[in-house]
Parts: sequence; structure tokens; C-alpha cells
Amino acid sequence: MTAPGIADTGTVAPTAAAIPLITADALAVGYSAAPVLSEVTFSLRAGERIGVLGPNGGGKTTLFRALLGELSPLAGSLDTAARCGTVPQTERSRLDFPVSALDVALMGAIAGRPWWKRPGRAERAAAHAALERVGLDALAERAFGELSGGQRQRVLVARALVQDARIVLLDEPFTGLDNVSVQRLEGLLDELAGEGRGVLIATHDVDQARAWDQVLCINRRQVAFGPPRETLTLEVLAATYGGSIVTLPQDGGERLAILPPHHHDH
Ligand SMILES: Nc1ncnc2c1ncn2[C@@H]1O[C@H](COP(=O)(O)OP(=O)(O)O)[C@@H](O)[C@H]1O
Ligand SMILES: [Mg+2]
Repeated sequence: MTAPGIADTGTVAPTAAAIPLITADALAVGYSAAPVLSEVTFSLRAGERIGVLGPNGGGKTTLFRALLGELSPLAGSLDTAARCGTVPQTERSRLDFPVSALDVALMGAIAGRPWWKRPGRAERAAAHAALERVGLDALAERAFGELSGGQRQRVLVARALVQDARIVLLDEPFTGLDNVSVQRLEGLLDELAGEGRGVLIATHDVDQARAWDQVLCINRRQVAFGPPRETLTLEVLAATYGGSIVTLPQDGGERLAILPPHHHDH
């Protein structure tokens, strides 16, 4: 069916691609009446990767919980125009469940259906295809908890693909990964954006975020949002990370570095 006067070209209308997948406007969120994160104004468009930067306790996970609908805005507005899949911040304690990589990917297909309905052939095929897509179908029967950190992250991306999530949220997915796993996951995120998904990645690595489309800097409130090159000024980094930002000598010049979180303990 086409609207009168509009030719049916069989392609997505140009305006559809321009509609943001996420729009936050003066958003405040928290766990009680007092917000832990406020003044958040940004949008995520199809094909964009946004790096979410902020110190520990800055509100990155809280923002993701709001995007997933687990927390309601205390002020401002938040609109999500597509389904969100999530790669949560992993904790070792959650890895003891006797579930396989395939089971985890399948969770993307069975969420929201009655518990007594076993996953069918189509769902299993979709889960295998998603594992294949992230390069892990050979390990489909392997226990999730026995996989490497990088492999677990990719299984969780596969779960988001099975959910057909147009928005993919990744909460510090690179923490603890070796360089090869980091590059592999970065490549996968580039592919997701390349096929028109919107990707939001919380990270502690400022240099990594420079390669993405936008950065959202938060420290209990939004500090800045925009393209990395213009946005990641010394002032913005200082406001985002407070005292944990230092300059290190490198190649005869200087390089900014963020002290690792445990430095806060002293
Ligand atoms: N379930 C919760 N209930 C109350 N406060 C919380 C809860 N989870 C996080 N917070 C608080 O919200 C603030 C932001 O935390 P969080 O979003 O986890 O930061 P980040 O992910 O950037 O480290 C912190 O002060 C934290 O203590
Ligand atoms: Mg967090």
C-alpha cells in the first residue's frame, strides 16, 4: 500500500532513516525521587555508534536501565523508537548457570512468549544463524561460563541479533578483554552500525571512543555530547573524570590518560 502521490520504490522512505532511534531531552533518572543522572539531551540515529564516557558511578548503567524501560524518567523525556537489545555489564557471579551459548542466544527468541512453549525449529535456526554471524556457532553447545570474556560478549550480541534489536546497548563490554578480542568486538560493532542499527557503548577508553560517531560524556549530569573530535576537549574530559585525569609523557609530547578506577580508593 502506498500513500496517494508517493511512488512505491520498494525502499525505506528517506524520512524513516532520519528519525532518531533514541531521543532524550533534559532527561533525569534515578532510583528514588533524587536523580543520580540529569540534564541528558542527545539522540541516537540509525547507523551511529555513540561512546558513553564517565567515571565509575557517573550514571552509565543507570542511563542504560532507563533506555531499557527499567527506570522511568524523573524529569524530561526519553523516546525509544525501536527495540533495544542489551549486552549487560558482566559479573562473575552470573556465570554459574548451566546454560550453553546457544541457550543464551535463544533467550533473545523466547523472551515474551509463554514459558511452557519450548523453542521451536525456527527459533533454534535463528539462534544458530546469529552465533554464526558473531563467529561462534562452533561453540554453540559450550557452557556460557566457560567461554572467554570476548566470546561471552559476542554471544550476548548474538542474543540481541536474535531479538532483532535495532538499538544495541553495550555496558563496558571491553573490560578485561585482550587486544585481539577488543578488535574483534569493535569490528562487530562497526558492522552492526553499518547495517543501520544504532549502537551505544559505555567504555573507559577515551581513545577508543574517538573512532566512533558521537560521544556522550556524563558525570552525574551530562557534560557534553557531540562528535568526538570537537567534543573531547581537556575541559570536557576534566569535568567528566574529575581528578582521575592525568597527562603522561609520550613520544616527546603529552597524552591524556584516565587513571583506572581503583585509584579512587586511596
Ligand atoms: N539499584 C540502585 N539503587 C540506588 N542507587 C543506585 C543503584 N544502582 C546504582 N545506583 C547509584 O547510581 C549512581 C550511578 O551508578 P551507575 O549508573 O551504576 O554508574 P556507572 O555505570 O557509570 O558506574 C551511583 O551513585 C550508584 O551508587
Ligand atoms: Mg556501570
